[in-house]
Amino acid sequence: MIIVKDKNKVINEVSSGESFKMIAKTMYGLEEVLAEELRALGAKDVTPINRAVAFTGTMQTLYKANYACRTALAILKPFAEFEANNEQELYDNVYKIKWEQILDVDCKFFIESAANSKIFTNSYYAALKMKDAIVDRFRRMFGRRPTIDTENADYKFNIHINANKVTLLMNSSGESLHKRGYRQGVGIAPINEVLAAGLIQLSGWKADSHFFDPMCGSGTILIEAAMYANNIPAQYYRKKFGFMRWKEFNNSEWKGVKERLDRGIREFEYEIWGSDIDPTVIDQAEKNLRFAKLHHDVCLFPNSFEFQDAPEGECMIITNPPYGERISVEDITNLYSMIGDRFKSFGDGKTAWLITSDFRAMKSIGLKTSRKIQLYNGALECRFLKFELYDGSKKAKYNA
Ligand SMILES: C[S@@+](CC[C@H](N)C(=O)[O-])C[C@H]1O[C@@H](n2cnc3c(N)ncnc32)[C@H](O)[C@@H]1O
Repeated sequence: MIIVKDKNKVINEVSSGESFKMIAKTMYGLEEVLAEELRALGAKDVTPINRAVAFTGTMQTLYKANYACRTALAILKPFAEFEANNEQELYDNVYKIKWEQILDVDCKFFIESAANSKIFTNSYYAALKMKDAIVDRFRRMFGRRPTIDTENADYKFNIHINANKVTLLMNSSGESLHKRGYRQGVGIAPINEVLAAGLIQLSGWKADSHFFDPMCGSGTILIEAAMYANNIPAQYYRKKFGFMRWKEFNNSEWKGVKERLDRGIREFEYEIWGSDIDPTVIDQAEKNLRFAKLHHDVCLFPNSFEFQDAPEGECMIITNPPYGERISVEDITNLYSMIGDRFKSFGDGKTAWLITSDFRAMKSIGLKTSRKIQLYNGALECRFLKFELYDGSKKAKYNA
C-alpha cells in the first residue's frame, strides 16, 4: 500500500508483505453468501460491508477469488490512501504516485468512482481529476500518455472518497465477473449470472436433489446450477482477467491455482430440468449449455409451465418469471396464479423459490411464503420468495 503523505511530500511503501487487503464487490443481499465463498477459499479477516466484502490474503487468494467466487462482481486491491481537502490536493497526491511503475505508457485505462463527501460531491469529476494527474505525469516524463477506454481497458481503477479520505484501488478482475464467458445468446430479460448464482446459494440447495427452472429463458439459472453442482469454478470459461496485465502477475502461480480448483470438478448424480414457453429462448439455452459442455447435464422442454411437470422426487425449483416490466404479459395476475397452482400440484419433497419485482402479482400465487429476501435485479427492487410444498399446500393461504 502506498500512503501519500501530503506535508512532507513523500510516498511510502508501507506493506510489501505477502498479505494485503482486498474488497470483493457484489450485489445487495449477497454479501453473506460471498463472505462464505471467500472463507471457503481461505481468505482471512472476511467482513461483509455494503454490497461488498472486505478480506485479506495473498496474490494466490486474489487469483482464487477471481476464478472461483460465484457471487463476486470484481475483486479490488487498494493500493494508495491519502487525504484531499480540495481538487488540487487530489490532483497533486495522484500525480505523486509512480504510475510509470504500474501502467505502460501505451495502455488503455479506465477509472470508476464512488464518493460520499461534501468536498467531492461529483464522483465522476474526481475520476476526471485522477485521470488528468496520471496522464500529465506520463506526458511530462515520456511526451506520450496512456488513453482512456471505457469498453476495453487494459487497467481498471477505482477511486473511493469518504469525506476527505481517498482510496485508490486496482480492479484485478478487469471486465465484470458476471461475464463468465459461456453466453452465446440471450432472451429479452436474462438474469445477471452473479444474481443467478446468488439465488442458488441463498436457497440452501446443496446439489443433493433434482433442480428445475420452469421459466428458464436462455438458461442462466440452469447453467449456474449445473456449474455449482459439478463444482465447476465460476470463471472456468473465461480467458482474461485484469491481474494478467499487472507487473506482479506470476503466470505459473496463477496456473497452479487454476489447476488445483479445476481438479475439484465432480459428477452430479441428480437431474437438472429447464422449460420455457418460448422455443427461441430454449434454443439459446441449448446453445449456451452446449458451449459450456453442460448439455448432457440439463434436460430442456419447450413447454408452458402449465403443462410441464417437475422431475420426480426431491427437487429444488428456482425461477425468474416475467415481472411485467421488461416483458409485457397480457394478464400477469393469471400467470402468477397459474404458477401458484402448479406449485400446489407438486406436493411433498419439493421446495420452490421465485424472484419477482411485481409485488402485486406475487399475491396471486396463493401460497404461504416461508421466507422473503430483499434483492435487486438491476435497478428493480425484488423479493426472493420461498414456498415449502407439501401435500396440504392446496389449502395453504398466502400470507402477505
Ligand atoms: C425473465 S425471463 C427468464 C430469463 C432467464 N432467467 C434467463 O436468464 O434468460 C421469463 C421467462 O418466462 C417465460 N415464460 C412466460 N410465460 C411462461 C409460461 N407460461 N410458461 C413457461 N415460461 C414462460 C418467458 O418466455 C421468459 O423466457
